Amino acid sequence: IPVAPFDYVLFGGTGDLAQRKLLPALYHRDLDGQLPDAARLIGASRAEFDADGYQAFAREALEQHVPATLLEAECLERFLARLDYVAIDAMSDDGWNDLKSMLDARDDGRIRAYYLAVGPRLFGPIAERLDKFDLIDERTRLVIEKPLGHDLDSAIALNNAVGAHFREDQVFRIDHYLGKETVQNLLALRFANVMFEPLWNAAHIDHVQITVAETVGVGDRAGYYNRSGAMRDMVQNHLLQLLCLVAMEPPASGEADSIRDEKLKVLRSLRPITGENIEATTVRAQYKAGAGPDGKVDGFLDELGEASDTETFVSLKAEIDNWRWAGVPFYMRTGKRMAMRMSEIVIQFRSVPHSVFGSGAGAPVANQLVLRLQPDEFVKQWIMIKDPGPGGMRLKHVPLDMSFAENFDERAPDAYERLLLDVIRGNQTLFMRRDEVEAAWRWIDPIFEAWEDRSQAVRSYTAGTWGPSQSIAMIERDGRTWNDGD
Ligand code: BG6
Repeated sequence: IPVAPFDYVLFGGTGDLAQRKLLPALYHRDLDGQLPDAARLIGASRAEFDADGYQAFAREALEQHVPATLLEAECLERFLARLDYVAIDAMSDDGWNDLKSMLDARDDGRIRAYYLAVGPRLFGPIAERLDKFDLIDERTRLVIEKPLGHDLDSAIALNNAVGAHFREDQVFRIDHYLGKETVQNLLALRFANVMFEPLWNAAHIDHVQITVAETVGVGDRAGYYNRSGAMRDMVQNHLLQLLCLVAMEPPASGEADSIRDEKLKVLRSLRPITGENIEATTVRAQYKAGAGPDGKVDGFLDELGEASDTETFVSLKAEIDNWRWAGVPFYMRTGKRMAMRMSEIVIQFRSVPHSVFGSGAGAPVANQLVLRLQPDEFVKQWIMIKDPGPGGMRLKHVPLDMSFAENFDERAPDAYERLLLDVIRGNQTLFMRRDEVEAAWRWIDPIFEAWEDRSQAVRSYTAGTWGPSQSIAMIERDGRTWNDGD
C-alpha cells in the first residue's frame, strides 16, 4: 500500500544501520513502487558531506547490501535523487537551522519522520533540539531502536527524555523481530483460524520453546556486546516479544493498542525469577574457541581481550502466572556461535490421553507446531497418520508442511521495509509501547541481581554447539528436550 509523501531524516545517516538496513530497505520499497514521487530522505550526521557526497555514499552502501539482480539502474538513480544531506551536531546547535530550512523549503504538509540511528545517549539531546528548533508538530514521528535502556531505571530515563518532547503516539520503538514475516504470521495463524485457539492453553499445550540461535560471533561489536550480553541484546526485546505474541489473549481488534495491551498483560504475568529459582530456571554461558560457519573461530574472551562474565548465551525457563498458561513452561534460549542459524517457536501439545492402538502400532507422538522464522521460513504441524500400506495399523509421525519459499514466489522483505513505512502510515502495531519496554525490564532486572547475589558461574560452551550442557540439563530435568532443528 503506497504511503503519503514524507521526509525521512536519518540521524546517524552515515552509520552501520543506515548502510546495512535503512537505505537498502527504502530502496527496496522504491523498487516495489511504494514510495511517492515526493518522498525525500535526508541523511544527518557529523560527517562533512554535501548531497552529492551522500548520494555517492548511499550508492556504495546499496551496491554492497542489495543483491545485484535487484539493483536496477533506473530505480537506483530515482532513489539516489531523493537523498539530501545535512551536517549536524546532536550535542550543539550546529546544523539545526540548516535542517529546518531544508525541511521548510518543501513544506507541503508532508509527514516528517526522524529516525535516530544513533546511540541512546543522543536520544534526549536530539529530541530536545528538534523541539528547540521548532521541528516537531502534529505530523512528526520519532523512531528509536534498542538499546532502550540498560535496566529499568535507565529505560525510564530514556522514555522520559523522549516523552518530554513527543507524545507516545508519535514515538515508534523498533523491535525488528516484529517486522519479520513469520512473526506476523503467528498472529494470522492464531487469530484467522478456528482450529488453534481452542487448544491454545494449558489443557492442551505441554510447553513452548523459543530459540534464536546464531552462528555469528560478536566480531567487531565486542565492546558494545560486552556491556550488553545475550540477555539485554536479545531476550529483553526480541525473545520476550515472541513470547508475548504466543501467549497473549486474543485482542479485541488489530488496533495497535489493542494488541499492545494484551502483550503488556503477559509481561506483567511473568513469574519473577529471583534468587530462589535462579539456578533451576536460568543458564548463562560464553563461547570458547571452536567451529564457526567458515572454520575455526576464537572464543569470546579472546576476541574481547579482557576478562568478562558477560553471557553470549542464555537459556531460561519462564512461567506465566495466569489462567491460560498455569503450569506451562516457556523455555527460551539464544546465543552467538551456536550450531546453526535458526530461529523458531515450538508449540508442544500434550499427548493423547489414551492410545486405542495396540503396541504393534507404536505409541502416538504428541503433536507439535513449529514456526520457523529463519533462515528458511515455514510452518510445520506435526501429526500422526497411519503408515500407508497393507501391513495393518502402524502409526507414523509426519509434518503438514507450509514452506514460504516453495509456496510463494515473492522475495521475503526485510523487517525494516515494513516497519519504516508503517511509521509513515502512523501504524504502531508492530512497535513497542513505553510500558511494554519497562515491564520487560522489570522482569529482567531481578535476574541480573540474582546472578550477582548468587554469583552463579558463567558456564562455557564450545563454538558451533547448542550451548552448555547445563542448558540441556535444564530442560531434560523436566523430561523434555530442546528441538534442535531439522
Ligand atoms: C540484533 C542484535 O538486535 O539482532 C544482534 O543486536 C543480533 O546481536 C540480531 O545478531 C539478530 O537479528 P536477525 O534478524 O539476524 O535474527
